Amino acid sequence: MNFILECIGLKKYFGDVKAIDDVNLKVKSGEITSILGPNGAGKTTLINLITGWLNPDTGKILFDGFDVTSVPPHDRVKRGICRSFQLVNLYDEMSVLDNISIAILSRKKLTGSLFKPLKHYKDVEEEAYSILKKIGLENRAHELAINLPHGSRKLLDVGLALALQPKLLLLDEPTSGVATREKTQVMHILSSIVRETKVTALMVEHDVDLAFAYSSEVVVMSQGKIIAQGPPEVVKKVEEVIKLGYGK
Ligand SMILES: Nc1ncnc2c1ncn2[C@@H]1O[C@H](COP(=O)(O)OP(=O)(O)OP(=O)(O)O)[C@@H](O)[C@H]1O
Ligand SMILES: [Mg+2]
Repeated sequence: MNFILECIGLKKYFGDVKAIDDVNLKVKSGEITSILGPNGAGKTTLINLITGWLNPDTGKILFDGFDVTSVPPHDRVKRGICRSFQLVNLYDEMSVLDNISIAILSRKKLTGSLFKPLKHYKDVEEEAYSILKKIGLENRAHELAINLPHGSRKLLDVGLALALQPKLLLLDEPTSGVATREKTQVMHILSSIVRETKVTALMVEHDVDLAFAYSSEVVVMSQGKIIAQGPPEVVKKVEEVIKLGYGK
């Protein structure tokens, strides 16, 4: 079994709050792993430790064979650790296409050249359209980001992360605030991205049914600890998971 990410003995305390309390986690390459857990369980803190937005008090993070524990966030992005946000992070007054193009330009370090109209960068435009196709927004390329429904905004945010050419895509609640009907669509598109691009996805998901339906591995956290990890059908039957209301 191939693991792209390994967290070993991670701890992160905020004063008396044990946000992450001795977490050991292995994430399988090319699959979707979902993290479930009640409010305050430490899910976002774990994502912040993996991206480097926070440093652990103790422990190690290995990514793709390298110890990245002390690597700053922008260098982790270069290595392929990219995230989308719990609250989306878009340029609202720009088109869907321009949002993606800017993310591609930033990867290529061409943002200083933005005084040139984006249409002059044909290769960037082509790549942007290929990403829009993956996230199912190619027909909305010229709409302003602000006019998209919430589920499409979430997908556009995922598109921004894809523009950075991730190996590991971290998603904090990709379906939060999204209408029930749209949620399945968002998860469906995410799983086809994982299948087609071989990216690994590690996501925080509050919707238990979606997490179990679309993930090959589920991690359940409570009070800074992992209380269960494994395939959905195994995790569902763990007593502590059932007590949290996630079991079946
Ligand atoms: N920067 C911070 N300073 C102090 N305490 C923090 C900080 N960030 C998180 N915490 C605390 O750490 C604990 C874990 O928070 P975290 O945001 O990781 O939970 P979560 O599982 O993502 O919750 P939610 O489902 O509400 O998003 C909580 O008790 C939170 O109040
Ligand atoms: Mg959170």
